[in-house]
Amino acid sequence: MKPIIADADAINRAAELLRQGRLVAFPTETVYGLGADAGNPVAVAGIFKAKGRPADHPLIVHVASIDSLYDWACTVPDAALKLADRFWPGPLAMILNKKPEVPLAVTGGQQTVGLRMPDHPVALALLKAFGGGIAAPSANRFCRISPTQADHVSEELGDAVDMILDGGPCQVGVESTIIDLSGGKPRLLRPGHITRREIEAVLQTELIMPPTLNTAPAPEMPEEIRAPGMMNVHYAPTTPAIRYPAGRLPKMIQQLIANDKRIGLLSYQLKITPTSQIHVLSLPEQAGDYAQMLYTALRELDSLQLDLILVEQPPQTEPWRAINDRLGKATARSPDNCPAPKSCSHPLPTIHVGNESSA
Ligand code: TXA
Ligand code: MG
Repeated sequence: MKPIIADADAINRAAELLRQGRLVAFPTETVYGLGADAGNPVAVAGIFKAKGRPADHPLIVHVASIDSLYDWACTVPDAALKLADRFWPGPLAMILNKKPEVPLAVTGGQQTVGLRMPDHPVALALLKAFGGGIAAPSANRFCRISPTQADHVSEELGDAVDMILDGGPCQVGVESTIIDLSGGKPRLLRPGHITRREIEAVLQTELIMPPTLNTAPAPEMPEEIRAPGMMNVHYAPTTPAIRYPAGRLPKMIQQLIANDKRIGLLSYQLKITPTSQIHVLSLPEQAGDYAQMLYTALRELDSLQLDLILVEQPPQTEPWRAINDRLGKATARSPDNCPAPKSCSHPLPTIHVGNESSA
């Protein structure tokens, strides 16, 4: 499916498609979403099919106003109103207890619903023209990197989507911060552009943090880097990817090149001269700019059929939390509940690093 410039006419046609139960990809300030009428369980089922996503993974419902909270949540706690007043429209999703009429297809069978008012003129115009809530996960196939440009959606979903609205590159570049306000103390479920401290300042209380936010780089060089078919991770390129501090990279790069490997380097400050064996992409030094470019850069390196992507560890301070979380997922080696992407299910050879005799 070729993206269409999101002018007023295209937006009206997209709203009509949503009313017919069809799928429309649209830009938000974070990443592109794959939208369907959140009130129509059949349309919502189409999202899971197009993405190849298990039906028990809940979707975020995108809404046009703060008042819409009352259309979807059975109770709207004070904390939700405070956060919406401060951050909506914006990259913050809130989990609240759902009204009985909210389809379980949207919430993955749970009694809670995720809600977000996006801060993008096209998303807001589409919501207004449609007049209801739009359920929309990121418009990528399950476990792949989220799209931050309309062309990425075409690459990911092909003709599985009925229309792709092109609103240019996303400004934030990583998915929204998610806060669970459905019971007890507020809990951070996913770090994003809006930081823990900003939320705590509004709520005047500490957030409960997830037990293992995957933010640390690999502790040591693994003996072997396994094929992506065995690396079942979220937000992941299909090329094996590892993250290291700058100080350890030059030696590692030397070894890999000596082993005839073709590598990609996503650098932050390290300056390495590109050669035919090493493709270097330098990301900006400011966290917001880095986040905006991150998925496009990973996608570009992933398209080059390299043996390995090395990621220079950026700072691990608060503004970098969401970036480190996503890098952790893109470079994780341990399996979780993601199936291997279809395109890389064939077993690739194991790559040995630091051993001159290996192939
Ligand atoms: O920035 C974003 O949030 C983008 C744009 C398109 O808005 N959307 C997005 O959706 O990232 P998705 O489906 O890729 O990620 C949403 C996350 C999932 O991890 C899902 O499990 C969680 O939100 N989520 C949604 N509803 C939930 C609920 N009721 N309880 C717990 N987690 C929920
Ligand atoms: Mg997603």
